[in-house]
Amino acid sequence: MNASRAYPSGPSEPIEQLVQALLARMTLAEKVGQMCQRNASEGHPPDYLGADLRAGQVGAVLNVVEVDAVNELQRIAVEESRLGIPLLVGRDVIHGFRTVMPLPLGQAASWNPGLVRECARIAAREAAGAGINWTFAPMIDIARDPRWGRIAESFGEDVFLASRLAAAAVTGFQGEDLAAPGSLAACAKHFAGYGAAESGRDYATTSIPEVELRNVYFPPFQAAIEAGVRTLMPSFCELNGVPCSGNEFLLRDVLRGEWGFDGVVVSDWDSVRQLKVHGLTADDRASALAAVTAGLDLEMAGDAYRNHLASLVESGAVEEGLLDQAVAGILRLKFELGLFENPYTDPARLPPLLDDEALATAKQAAAQSAVLLQNRNGVLPLKAGRLQAVAVIGPLADAPHEQLGTWTFDGSAADAVTPRQAIEALAGPEVQLRFAAAMANSRSSAGPGFDEAVAAARDSDVALLFLGEEAILSGEAHSRAEIGLPGAQEELVRRVREAGRPVVAVVMAGRPLTLAGIVDQVDALLFAWHPGTMGGPALAELLFGVQSPSGKLPVTFPRMVGQVPIYYSQKNTGKPPTPDQVVHIDDIDTHAPQTSIGMTAFHLDAGYRPLFPFGFGLSYTEFHYRDIRASAPEIALGESVRISAELSNQGPVAAEEVVQLYVRDLVGSITRPVRELKGFKRLRLAPGQTVTVAFDLHTDELAFHGRDMRRVTEPGEFRAWIGGSSDTELGITFHIRGDTSS
Ligand code: GLC
Repeated sequence: MNASRAYPSGPSEPIEQLVQALLARMTLAEKVGQMCQRNASEGHPPDYLGADLRAGQVGAVLNVVEVDAVNELQRIAVEESRLGIPLLVGRDVIHGFRTVMPLPLGQAASWNPGLVRECARIAAREAAGAGINWTFAPMIDIARDPRWGRIAESFGEDVFLASRLAAAAVTGFQGEDLAAPGSLAACAKHFAGYGAAESGRDYATTSIPEVELRNVYFPPFQAAIEAGVRTLMPSFCELNGVPCSGNEFLLRDVLRGEWGFDGVVVSDWDSVRQLKVHGLTADDRASALAAVTAGLDLEMAGDAYRNHLASLVESGAVEEGLLDQAVAGILRLKFELGLFENPYTDPARLPPLLDDEALATAKQAAAQSAVLLQNRNGVLPLKAGRLQAVAVIGPLADAPHEQLGTWTFDGSAADAVTPRQAIEALAGPEVQLRFAAAMANSRSSAGPGFDEAVAAARDSDVALLFLGEEAILSGEAHSRAEIGLPGAQEELVRRVREAGRPVVAVVMAGRPLTLAGIVDQVDALLFAWHPGTMGGPALAELLFGVQSPSGKLPVTFPRMVGQVPIYYSQKNTGKPPTPDQVVHIDDIDTHAPQTSIGMTAFHLDAGYRPLFPFGFGLSYTEFHYRDIRASAPEIALGESVRISAELSNQGPVAAEEVVQLYVRDLVGSITRPVRELKGFKRLRLAPGQTVTVAFDLHTDELAFHGRDMRRVTEPGEFRAWIGGSSDTELGITFHIRGDTSS
């Protein structure tokens, strides 16, 4: 069967004709088979899937990553079944395949869509070599609760940033041509609102007003669809009482009805049968009915569809036309992937794993994702020429598995270069490196290793502490109620501090941590997320100034976990706190009247500001902003206003800055956030260089869904800011008139 090749703009007539012609030849049992994705992670899959493949009862598999086994599965499906329909072969290629890139949350800290796209492209190329043709990525849930373990997989808290990076990742995975070697179908997940799980507990209930769904949680999925994503996965959670896998509002009304999505909706792992556990249905048959009615096309790793769909159709409970829609989408994707023309994989047609380009990209991504949060007394960058000895201390200094992070199914710790190894190589033989892990792992208690660490620090010119969370402390089903440094790490910092040498802390983690307990104990603080295979060389280059840090936080860092949820684009409330009236719990007189302090929205024991705000990140130079301007004080609906400012590098070294544009709509038919990111640019400036940075802002970009769920821009007063963090004060006011431009 000779399908025409796929193309970036979506299926043309020939593919639709082929889909319909094939569909017309299928039996009910074969249609059900296409709607079943089977796990193939155990043993030799052809042994236990062969019979069902020959009977046309399997449309897709997942978790088989050995190319010969994949080719054998494809061969059975194509050459030994009645219709010869090839298989979708899925895998969680989340942040790299064999070359592990930084966590998605770390990639988001680069604020570099091009880099995110490159990371995805290389991951796709490496995975395709194993016969994989579909990844369950990007995960684009807006995440504002660092207790939630899956914040690690997200692009952070902000709608604008996550939407830009979602599109970049989709483009990277899918390439220009889905049928080309090295392309994977991407999967936008988890639709929708998963990041709002109560108390950050994974899989917990989400209750989100529709207007907030549309203004906050939907846009990254719309961006992914506009970028051409071909599959989507609903969340495990219930949303407003209806689990997403059986949620017709999400999967039919919005996704198909409003957005016209024509790709494949795949369940999460066994999430169809979980509809019963949620309490939506009484049994698997009812779950299959609810899911297929809601618009779920493909059941991953469950058997509700396999056991019940045919009888549901035969009994008249389900129209066969519903299955036809689902199967058409699955066949369409297989044609777009070119699987009917060539279902087999020849690894020789792709570059080898861990090639130079992959490793270079992994290192650049790790370097650009690291965020410099503090650098007192210019302790960084280290001057190798002035150092005799460096102490490299901590549970994450030489922990190759940990630096890869969660969802690293196919990466290998053996490939990872650790900070200890990279510093030794970069600093050279003249610099003595004193290594002390101090702790067996990030959760260890204080022990004799502490004395060794303190001694190493005392005998060195600087103490480099590598702290944080092991990889297993974030990711799916790994939420934390406390989000400080685990184990006795804070005590280790205090003990090393006593040695009297400059202390640099490098923190690796899958989430923001509450670091208030160490910021006054360390001179410099570099947050590296889990930086991946090349994390060591990237961090060594940053520490020794080969390149300057340039990352910016994609998520707010709270002082205390009790502040969560805390994010920059919050509402003003009717009683916003101001710096001058916020008190601290110790200042309160025990018999003071209730109204003795400013009655505003803050915590007595934490104030109202985060430890580090969204968008914040330092470099080794000094960036200064001045002279913000608007091209016009007032514009009409339909017009654009140019917001610009002068940016200068007034420091000693060249460095990159992520310039950010924020806007506030001061009055709305529903209240609007105090700031919203509406633009960003990554620029490199030489020392002494000054540039004008400009953003053209169209009134459509200020639209939001109001009480009537219509997306409109409302005229009125707006405030715009430009700066290197969400708390920039460089602002200007402009107005939008009520009339529309002629
Ligand atoms: C998991 C995750 C989902 C992943 C799928 C397949 O439970 O929720 O993100 O793609 O199962 O591993």
